Amino acid sequence: MHRLVRTALVTCLIASFSSGAAAATAPADAIKYRKAVMKALSAHVSAYLLINMGKVEHPEYLKAHASALADLGAQARVLFPVGTDAGNTDALPLIWKEPDKFSKLVSKLEKSSATLRDAVAANDKAGATAAFKALGEACKGCHDRYRKADD
Ligand code: HEC
Repeated sequence: MHRLVRTALVTCLIASFSSGAAAATAPADAIKYRKAVMKALSAHVSAYLLINMGKVEHPEYLKAHASALADLGAQARVLFPVGTDAGNTDALPLIWKEPDKFSKLVSKLEKSSATLRDAVAANDKAGATAAFKALGEACKGCHDRYRKADD
């Protein structure tokens, strides 16, 4: 049984590595991936806040959440491929109509999350507070303009 599971896993891994370059990503999967990364950002923001506000006693994990935010923020640029403006998505077509303006908000996410990671690692509280504020502005700024409002 174990060997079978391992063989299946290895086969899956090989399949995923070898097909990676050749197969084009289906837009529906790119949208699912975008949402998964967005939810992950949101989860780490929540965990970070709970620790930072002292609601939970896990200060030793603040760094992990700040690092995760930086790692996720660094992928933001690939989350919006052309052709993912339709289907099961709240992303507005405006994203692909004004790429320069959109790109500035992606950069803000990248920079603020990296600054947050570095500030937390250096135990720089004021720096972390400023970076977290900038991060929140990036989320909100982008959602306000480029995401469908909740009905
Ligand atoms: C550069 C633009 C941009 C930035 C920055 C951004 N988002 Fe998003 N976010 C979007 C768009 C567009 C959607 C809609 C995605 C879709 O439905 O395909 C979205 C969707 C989401 C969703 C809903 C996911 C779902 O399952 O439908 C959450 C949660 C979210 N974002 C959290 C965040 C958080 C937290 C941050 C900041 C740390 C952030 N986002 C930063 C553009 C952005």
